[in-house]
Order: sequence, then C-alpha cells, then structure tokens
Amino acid sequence: MKATAPGKVILFGEHAVVYNRPALAVPVFQVYVEVEVLDSSASGVWIHAPIIDLHAELTALPADHPIGSVILKLFQRLYISQPPNMEVRISSTIPVASGLGSGAAVSAALFRALSSYLSHPLPNEQVNDLVFEIEKLHHGTPSGIDNTVITYAMPVYFIKGQPIETFYAGKPFTIVIGDTGIPAPTKESVGDVRRLWLRNSNYYEDIFDEIAQISLIARRSIESGKPELLGELMDHNHAFLQRLTVSSPELDKLVTAARDAGALGAKLSGGGRGGNMIALVNQAQAESVAEALMSAGAKRTIVTEVS
Ligand code: PMV
Repeated sequence: MKATAPGKVILFGEHAVVYNRPALAVPVFQVYVEVEVLDSSASGVWIHAPIIDLHAELTALPADHPIGSVILKLFQRLYISQPPNMEVRISSTIPVASGLGSGAAVSAALFRALSSYLSHPLPNEQVNDLVFEIEKLHHGTPSGIDNTVITYAMPVYFIKGQPIETFYAGKPFTIVIGDTGIPAPTKESVGDVRRLWLRNSNYYEDIFDEIAQISLIARRSIESGKPELLGELMDHNHAFLQRLTVSSPELDKLVTAARDAGALGAKLSGGGRGGNMIALVNQAQAESVAEALMSAGAKRTIVTEVS
C-alpha cells in the first residue's frame, strides 16, 4: 500500500495567522513524501527511513519519536493493540526544517498508507485532524495551516478554527522558492512575536490587520486571474514581516536578489529567520531568478507553478 503527500509553501499571512487572520498556502508537488507499507516476515513493525538513517522496530523507538508517534497514534485511533507484522518504507525529497512542511507531509502520508493497509482508509478530514495533533506534539501551538494544505493538496485560504476553504487559480502563475539553508526556528520566532504583541498589542494588532488585508486581496487576485498583482503584495507582506522581526540578513539578501533579477515581488515564507523565501516571476524569468538566488547564497531553489 502506497501513499504520498506534497510539500507546501505559505504565500501570504504567516505569523498573522496565529492571531486568527487569514493566510494563503499552496502545495508544492516538486517535493513529496512517499510511504509504502508491505507485509513482512520479520516480527514487528519495521520502519525504514533512509533520509534520516532510521532502520528500527517500532517498540525500540522512544514514545515521542516523530515517526514512531505517528504510527502509535494511528494504531490507537483504529483500536489496534496487536499490529500485524509489516514493513514501513518512508522516502522524502522535502528538505527538513526549511518551511516546506516535511514533518506534516511524513505524517499525512503515513496515516494514509497505514490506515489503507489496515483496511480502514481515513478520509481527508480525519487525516488532517491527526496530522494536526502530531504537529501540536512537536511544534507547540501551530495554527494548523501546514497540515491543512498538505492533507488537501490544494491551495487553501486558512483561518484558524474556521471551516477549510480551498480555492483555484484563475490563471496559473510561477513562483521561485529559495532556501537559505538555515533551519527556520519557527517555535522561537512565533514565541518572540507573542512577546512583542503582549508588550504592545495595539501596534501589532494593526500589523496583523494589514497582513490580513493583503491575504484577502491576494486571494481575490489569484481567483480572478490577475496573479501579476501578487508581486507588490509580496513586497508589502515582507515589509510587515520585517517589522515583526522574523526576517534575517540572509532572507533579506535573497529577497533583494530576486527583485533585482526581475521578480515581480518577493517575501520570506513560513516562520522566518531561516528557511525559505518566495518570488513571483514571469515564467520566462524563472531560471534567471533562480540563478540569482543561488549566487546570493541560496542552498537550493525550486520553481513551481500554482494552477
Ligand atoms: O515554518 P512554517 O512554514 O511551518 O510556517 C510557520 C507559519 C507560522 O504562521 C509562523 C506559524 C503557524 O503555526 O502558522
């Protein structure tokens, strides 16, 4: 039994989304996790994840192991106390801790492949809830945007605690993702923004309102087939993220390099202080913007189309 889950990138609204403002995120199909579950003659639940050099039997892992905890959670959900012998193979092309959602994608693909193998395939809604529970174990107080976009593999307009809204692009557009190669310390940056907000909530509430407005206009631009308007919105959103102190010299350098190379706009994406930035480009410029990002220090670039 096989299942996959894509990576993701946040287009607009990170951090403000923690304060109940809307955010937009899209799946990135160029990178993905694949999980295969097979019958096994060896006794137990054997896990092979070469990306993290893991080859172990489930009971040998600590209870809070990021992969072990997903498998245990599923067995618990399906009331399985004596799992059959099986082999779980996990492969991933999503870089870890870069803001592309590698953890949520591993969880989603695992829940899907295992539940199908055990003849109880779970609907998206349940996969989404379970992945969110796992995200909470490892990341403190996530907004839920990662698990949602990855589980539904569709562009989402996300507001914490509200029903899921997916949307379509009226016209496809191209984004270049540039990775600083620095792990994004999301838990820390979310905590720092909270401390700032506690000290001066009026000021930060205003910033969150401005970002909410950007997300709203961005969604309308995408749906009405005017993605070229997103460039300026990205630039504005990045400036607000700088004021939230979640950019970094490396991210700013990549954002500037993308704009100088002809991108229509650029911003950091995700938790910030590391991880990724994104740039909106005309398709013909994608390669030259990607090259400019590499010259400015990016460790990796991905060109993806949102359609
Ligand atoms: O670093 P990422 O891509 O997982 O994004 C974090 C996004 C935040 O809004 C900063 C936090 C959250 O839980 O939504």
